[in-house]
Amino acid sequence: MSNSPFNIKHLDTYQQWRKKKLSAYPLAIDSLLTPIANPEAPTNDELGRILETCRQHNLALYRFEQGNLRSKQLVHRMGAAIGLQRLDNNLCADEDSLTSLHVTSHAGQHDYIPYTDKKLSWHTDGYYNLPEEQIHGMVLHCAQHATEGGESWLMDHEIAYILLRDANPDYIMALMHPNAFTIPANILNGSVVRPEQSGPVFSVTAAGNLHMRYSARQHNVIWRDDPLTHAAAQFLLNVWEQDSPYKIRYTLQAGEGLVCNNVLHCRTAFVDSNEPEHKRLLYRGRYYDRIAKTNLVQETPC
Ligand SMILES: [Fe+2]
Repeated sequence: MSNSPFNIKHLDTYQQWRKKKLSAYPLAIDSLLTPIANPEAPTNDELGRILETCRQHNLALYRFEQGNLRSKQLVHRMGAAIGLQRLDNNLCADEDSLTSLHVTSHAGQHDYIPYTDKKLSWHTDGYYNLPEEQIHGMVLHCAQHATEGGESWLMDHEIAYILLRDANPDYIMALMHPNAFTIPANILNGSVVRPEQSGPVFSVTAAGNLHMRYSARQHNVIWRDDPLTHAAAQFLLNVWEQDSPYKIRYTLQAGEGLVCNNVLHCRTAFVDSNEPEHKRLLYRGRYYDRIAKTNLVQETPC
């Protein structure tokens, strides 16, 4: 991490990187969204644009212009083409491994907010996963949008890092502590579904990329008993309450999707349709990979 913007001692590197990151804002949705003319065979230009958008902002939007907008296979294939291959909890990934998010009353799912029409607070995905199973990439594909609401709010986690570091560099040190926050064990009917999981909020991968584990849900998280850690956590809660040019708001429409390096996100409440075929339906894939160029994307001469 010698020449990394995430090295707290290297102020010049940080300042140069920070200036470039922030100068891109506010972002226009059109600059983030890539239309995919034929989802059966995205072109190298289309995939290249998605990769470049992700390289700059850790997220990109796409829109399937035709074809079966509910096809998991097409979503899965496009994810694989931009480097998302190793799905969480499913090393033998196939097109059916994407999770369907919709309002459900199935036993065991009813108390998980993703399966309701309620507001979902700011988080990154898989913050409760084991260290070796952290989520670095994600796809969220909209097969059917809600009648009303269900807007996604997004923030590049590198922007959150900048806001914290600018406010107080010691916040970063506190949030990089290996036990910055702990997720209590998930116990269902007396048996441990998931053990307690402790870890840092921010970490830097071997490849030098910033990773973030976070949930704004207070009862989901036990913050380390340290004044700076609590102040940093409160700072982030204040960020969620304020208007910010760094928050990206977009309601995915049927056939549109988000691909990202597990950026911060939340969702507004929504009103679902009464008609079964028009009920909100999103497919979600959580991956151990970041978005990266694959050999499906050839270099195009400038
Ligand atoms: Fe999520």
